[in-house]
Amino acid sequence: MPLLANHIAVITGAGSGIGRAIALGFAREGARVIALDVNADGAAETAKLVSDSGGTACSFPLDVTDRAACVAMAKRIADAIGPVSILVNNAGIARRNGMTGAADAVVKDWEDVIAINLTGVFNVTHAFLGSLRANKGRIVNIGSIQSFVHIRQPSSPAYTASKHGVLGFTKALAVELGKEGVRVNAIGPGFIETPLNAATRASNPDGVRLFIEHTPLGRAGQPEDIVGPAIFLASDLSAYVTGSIVMADGGYRAV
Ligand code: NAI
Repeated sequence: MPLLANHIAVITGAGSGIGRAIALGFAREGARVIALDVNADGAAETAKLVSDSGGTACSFPLDVTDRAACVAMAKRIADAIGPVSILVNNAGIARRNGMTGAADAVVKDWEDVIAINLTGVFNVTHAFLGSLRANKGRIVNIGSIQSFVHIRQPSSPAYTASKHGVLGFTKALAVELGKEGVRVNAIGPGFIETPLNAATRASNPDGVRLFIEHTPLGRAGQPEDIVGPAIFLASDLSAYVTGSIVMADGGYRAV
């Protein structure tokens, strides 16, 4: 039996990169996938890719910073599709203006990054909590190496703060919901080649080289590298795992 049969899985930021790869991987394992993204076309394309490969998926536009829209989406999905038992909080942005950069840019980075990467995780989780609690749900949050350390170049205090926050939120929820059988974990991807860092890769090849030199596996990651850990954390394979973070960083944090 596929590992995620009979599960309905909501994935935010599913219109691109890691979220799209997780959507395809979950569908391969039998989950019914709901791809959410502020980019409606991206989410629809993901749902089409899933369907084309024999899986079951649909998509809806959702901005995770819009709390009321998150609540409405949870209700719509419960009414029209069924009970959600897996939530992947993946939507995120990275902006890299250091604290000493132009004031307007630094402030805007802070507001946008915290709103999407941290408050967005809260908004979506809170909206789907009823269904997740009723179905012994599994929540998988996408953290980062920056859930533990700051990466110097290019500096982004907002991103580091947001991803530390995601790990803290993961632990808090795991503790609060453990007795109900709801499991909450995170994944810490390393440097994964996606549209998120396309501009950095183009403008800062030396930074990328240094990063990969620090990475024991000696290569950048691909979105598919996050799929196995996500299936593990969403499935019964991880039945006794909660409040944890699985690093999928090529060993970066071991050095
Ligand atoms: P991506 O840019 O390819 O995909 C992110 C998706 O999130 C996009 O489809 C975008 O439209 C969506 N999104 C952005 N703002 C949104 C909002 N307000 N509401 C709903 N959706 C929104 O990026 P990638 O690399 O796939 O990132 C996915 C997650 O992985 C993010 O949380 C990111 O911080 C995290 N991550 C990525 C790493 C990397 O090296 N690519 C490393 C560590 C963590």
